[in-house]
Amino acid sequence: MKRKLFLLFSLAFFYSSYLWFEEGKNPAWAKYQRAFYQKKLVELEKEHKAATFEKDKKDLEKKITILRSQKPEIKQILLKGTGTWDKLRNGNKVDRCITCHIDESGLKASHAIVSEFPFDVYGCTVCHKGIGRALAEKEAHRGMYTHRRQMQKRMASADKVFELWLELTELSPEETDPNLTPVWGNFRYNGVTGEKAIYVGSQKCLRCHTGLTAPHAEQWKRTKFTSFERVKQAPDFIEGDENYRKQCYKCHTTGYNPGNGKYVDEGVTCEACHGPGELFSYFMDIGKAQEGQKIARVNSPYNVCFECHISRHHEMRVKFFKDRGLSDDWWFTKYSNLLIESEKISPSQGWLR
Ligand code: HEC
Ligand code: HEC
Ligand code: HEC
Ligand code: HEC
Ligand code: HEC
Ligand code: HEC
Repeated sequence: MKRKLFLLFSLAFFYSSYLWFEEGKNPAWAKYQRAFYQKKLVELEKEHKAATFEKDKKDLEKKITILRSQKPEIKQILLKGTGTWDKLRNGNKVDRCITCHIDESGLKASHAIVSEFPFDVYGCTVCHKGIGRALAEKEAHRGMYTHRRQMQKRMASADKVFELWLELTELSPEETDPNLTPVWGNFRYNGVTGEKAIYVGSQKCLRCHTGLTAPHAEQWKRTKFTSFERVKQAPDFIEGDENYRKQCYKCHTTGYNPGNGKYVDEGVTCEACHGPGELFSYFMDIGKAQEGQKIARVNSPYNVCFECHISRHHEMRVKFFKDRGLSDDWWFTKYSNLLIESEKISPSQGWLR
């Protein structure tokens, strides 16, 4: 009798741990991801069947293999503020909505109305409310807004952005090294995830800031700021290796990221002086220019010109020519020649310039 009872108990134990294990291995949210991958797979296989070129077929096959190997996993956007994620100082600020709402292109389509908002950085709860950390549907959707107007209003005022910044600052108190801590307003430069804020490129700004109402932007177009061509033609730029060239990007491009060596715009464009525009241009875009202006003014450095116009900004170039036994002033001639050609001015004017 005792023996049977023991067997029964252990069976019950095994069964419950099996259930527990299954839930760990097969959580509720995984079914949404599986369904999504399955749908994608069917689409791709259809495309594969219809494809005529061998190369297209190969590309699709690659995509299909990648898709087949996709394992369900928690996907999230961390809003870590000024703290460090390692130190878990960001409290509750993590949005996992995309764990289930995984269809990026679908989301893009349904958000056409707020499409310029940087979702990938700010997450979902900033507009929708709800519980960002939750992984069960019911809990995640708790307290969520239901009306479109409510959501839109959430991100229609700069004050909401400032509130969020403040909240993130409070959640993540100062690190021990004061040099490493961006101050509050630096969220404009170091986005809320702690990575660099996004530069949108001057093409976007010029969609609105052109013509009679924008004398400043028109003036900018007439200056050499727009030019990167002459830098490209500089002999040292041509002959120098990539490490040498990298030194030029800091001042001659906009949105340069030394981490990955990429930049957003060639030349000195709007955001080189006005800072990354991801947030403030969003407000300008939804017709709330004044709110955008409030954000654009945060931490706007009064001495922005001197980041580039320092007296010895070309010392590396002088060294480059000296090291190769070339006179360090010969490029001036070449430079003025280029000017004369490209701007169709007289040589004397070229020298003066
Ligand atoms: C466990 C999976 C899951 C998580 C986590 C989740 N959702 Fe959902 N959500 C769903 C599903 C499934 C639907 C579709 C329900 C339907 O069509 O009735 C949905 C629907 C929605 C809708 C549309 C509601 C409507 O009335 O049409 C919104 C908005 C939404 N979710 C936002 C969010 C936000 C914001 C979060 C994060 C705080 C989130 N969801 C987290 C699964 C999830
Ligand atoms: C800038 C504010 C904003 C952000 C950020 C945002 N949403 Fe939305 N979302 C909206 C608005 C506004 C609508 C309603 C759009 C409409 O009705 O045309 C919406 C609609 C939705 C819907 C319903 C779509 C439908 O077709 O019914 C889902 C689901 C959703 N959002 C999920 C998300 C998820 C997931 C995220 C984070 C990745 C997110 N949203 C981020 C503002 C936002
Ligand atoms: C959808 C249109 C639109 C876009 C896109 C846009 N802006 Fe604006 N912006 C405006 C309007 C409208 C104003 C307010 C009226 C004005 O000063 O011309 C404004 C104001 C400004 C101001 C004045 C701030 C102050 O201190 O008063 C700056 C600077 C600015 N924009 C820079 C930019 C930059 C840089 C970009 C690109 C990253 C950009 N804008 C994109 C419409 C736009
Ligand atoms: C610290 C900022 C800074 C760095 C770094 C820098 N430049 Fe410049 N560069 C400037 C400024 C400011 C000007 C405009 C004033 C001047 O001509 O001195 C300029 C002008 C030029 C011009 C003349 C272009 C024209 O149209 O007037 C060339 C060519 C040039 N730089 C090449 C380079 C090259 C090549 C490098 C990299 C090896 C480089 N620069 C690195 C700031 C910089
Ligand atoms: C070389 C640096 C620099 C560049 C490049 C630049 N700006 Fe400005 N911009 C400024 C400064 C400085 C101000 C004056 C700010 C102030 O008054 O606080 C300003 C002011 C403005 C204003 C306020 C109103 C006005 O017209 O004076 C707008 C709008 C503006 N800039 C838009 C732009 C746009 C759009 C671009 C790109 C096409 C651009 N700026 C490129 C430095 C720059
Ligand atoms: C991101 C670096 C950077 C910043 C910030 C910057 N400049 Fe420049 N500036 C340059 C470079 C590089 C050139 C040379 C343009 C070229 O040929 O590529 C230049 C050229 C100029 C010129 C000559 C334009 C011409 O057409 O002859 C003037 C004037 C000037 N800058 C003024 C300013 C002022 C004023 C500010 C601050 C409001 C400023 N710059 C901010 C990098 C910068």
